[in-house]
This record gives sequence, C-alpha cells and structure tokens, in this order.
Amino acid sequence: LQPIHVGLLGIGTVGSGVFHVLRRNQEEIRRRAGRGIQIAMVADLDTERARAIVGDAATVVGDALAVIANPAIDIVVELIGGTGIARQLVMEAIAAGKHVVTANKALLAVHGSEIFAAAQAKGVMVAFEAAVAGGIPIIKALREGLTANRIQWVAGIINGTTNFILSEMRDKGLDFDVVLKEAQRLGYAEADPTFDIEGIDAAHKVTLISALAFGIPVQFDKAYVEGITKLQAADIRYAEQLGYRIKLLGITKRVDGGVELRVHPTLVPARRLIANVEGAMNAVVVQGDAVGTTLYYGKGAGSEPTASAVIADLVDVTRLHTADPLHRVPHLAFQPDAMSPLPV
Ligand code: HSE
Repeated sequence: LQPIHVGLLGIGTVGSGVFHVLRRNQEEIRRRAGRGIQIAMVADLDTERARAIVGDAATVVGDALAVIANPAIDIVVELIGGTGIARQLVMEAIAAGKHVVTANKALLAVHGSEIFAAAQAKGVMVAFEAAVAGGIPIIKALREGLTANRIQWVAGIINGTTNFILSEMRDKGLDFDVVLKEAQRLGYAEADPTFDIEGIDAAHKVTLISALAFGIPVQFDKAYVEGITKLQAADIRYAEQLGYRIKLLGITKRVDGGVELRVHPTLVPARRLIANVEGAMNAVVVQGDAVGTTLYYGKGAGSEPTASAVIADLVDVTRLHTADPLHRVPHLAFQPDAMSPLPV
C-alpha cells in the first residue's frame, strides 16, 4: 500500500515533535498502521523554520489553504492553535473531505458542536487525542476502553503549566512569575499563558472530557472556571500543614438533573495518588459503574508527549481510512521472526 499523505498546518513545538517521532519510529508505526504515514506537506508562516526542520522530506508552503486544496493529502493535522484562523481551516479541510487531527482544545471546546456536525455530515473523522492531557491516551480510554461504563465522574490535573507552578512554589519556595517563565521556556505554557493560569485551558479540556463521558454537546460556556492567580505561597503552606495539597482540578460529574463542569483549586488529601502528581505531569481519574476507579498518569504537555498523541490519531485514522479489513487490526500482527524474550 502507498503511504497515507499528511498535511501539517503549523510546525512549532508539537509539529516538530510529530515530524521527529514519525521519522524515528517509522517502521513500528508503519506496521501498526498497516501502511506508511508520510508528512507530504507542511504549511507555516515561517517557511524558513519549517524547511530547517523537514529538509527536503516534505513540501513547505506559507499558505495553509494550499495544503487543504491538494488532492494528494488525505489527513490534515491542525497545530496552529486558537479559535480564529484554525476554525476556518478545519472547516475548509472537512468541506474538502479530509480527515482532521487536531491538538486544539480551545477550538473544539468552543466550536466543537459545529465542527463535529460538519465532519459527521461529510463522513470524515476529527480526532483530538492530543487536545486533552497531552500524551495520556484519555480520549481513547473514554471512547474505547471504558465504553461499557456509565461514567459517574472524571477529575484530573489536566494543565501541566499550573501543576508545574504549584509544585515549584511548594517545593522550592519560588515565586509565581519565575516558575511561569520557566514553564514557557520548557514549552508547556499556551501562547497566551492567561489561559493556563486562569484555568481556561483546563476548562477547555474538561469540557471535551465531559462531552465524551456523558454524551452531551461541548458547552465550554457552561463551565465554572477559577484559576490559580489568587493563590499565595502562604495558602500552599497552610494546606501542607493541614495534610493537603492544592491542585487545580478539572471536574465533571453526573448529578441529579444534569452534569457539573468545573475547574478550580482544590484541597486534596496529601496521601491521595493525585496529590502526588508533580511538575508538568497530568493525571486523570475516571469513575465508571462497572470498572470502578481508574487512573491515567503521564506527561500532559511538551513536544514529543503531545506528538505521541497526534501520531496515535494518525494511526487510528489511517486504519479506518484503509477499507481493506486485513489492515484494520494490523497492530495485532506480530513478526514471528522478531526478537524473542531472553531466557532468564
Ligand atoms: N498549556 C498546556 C498545559 C499545554 O500546560 O497543560 C498542553 O495542553
């Protein structure tokens, strides 16, 4: 089979991670997807930076619409971010019959209903594993692994920047501003870090979790949102003395007559696993009626962890896009002549 052709819109922190991981793990990914996944085209305003990353492996253009209009492109990966131009491009891509993979939580939390409806009408996929909790496969867990359950609640640390800030303030007694700058340097923070520290980014993500968990439309405007900007070092210290950690949690819960959707600093007993999630790590707890409590932990931000989720979606879309049933479950195909476990 010919490789599937991907067009990348935006090649910054996450986009370059996608390019490098796809290249490094090319063989494994090809086997698991049933065919190769090739980034054929990249659009970025900074074409020089893009060329420096991809070399001659892909065509680089300055105009994203040129990628969408190219009939050879099967999947469009939107990594531009924001709700302006990204919305227009995603809608254009869907209208052109392309599958879309996006890490854009803001876009889906605000315009998801419109976007998912358009994709359904057109018979294309919009996949967004990377939009929630970075490298943690929480979307797949909710959509597939836990699909038998009536979900009762989901709660999680789903913003790496604020968890990093709270951890560093507690452990090293550092000031808020210093730690925020470091989070930006490490590529955790949003382009506008207000989204992180005011809880908006976490609210985007919990809105998507809630829609998946409870089958409700995406309704970011209904979320209660409170960030960490009013917290002081003293709050963190007092909480510690009382046996608690302060964590910014995104919570969605089935209650009588509806669903709660909220983000706010929460006192978590220090002995709980989730209280001990430090740095930019994320953790999500899901309570289902059949499975009970499950916990997902990992890197919620950064170049390659987020790329890991983008590529998982690319593999998923590739499998589903390839109609031949032999290619639908290639991830179960092992190589009989490959390595065997060593004798102990
Ligand atoms: N700004 C986000 C965070 C990036 O800190 O978690 C990942 O969505």
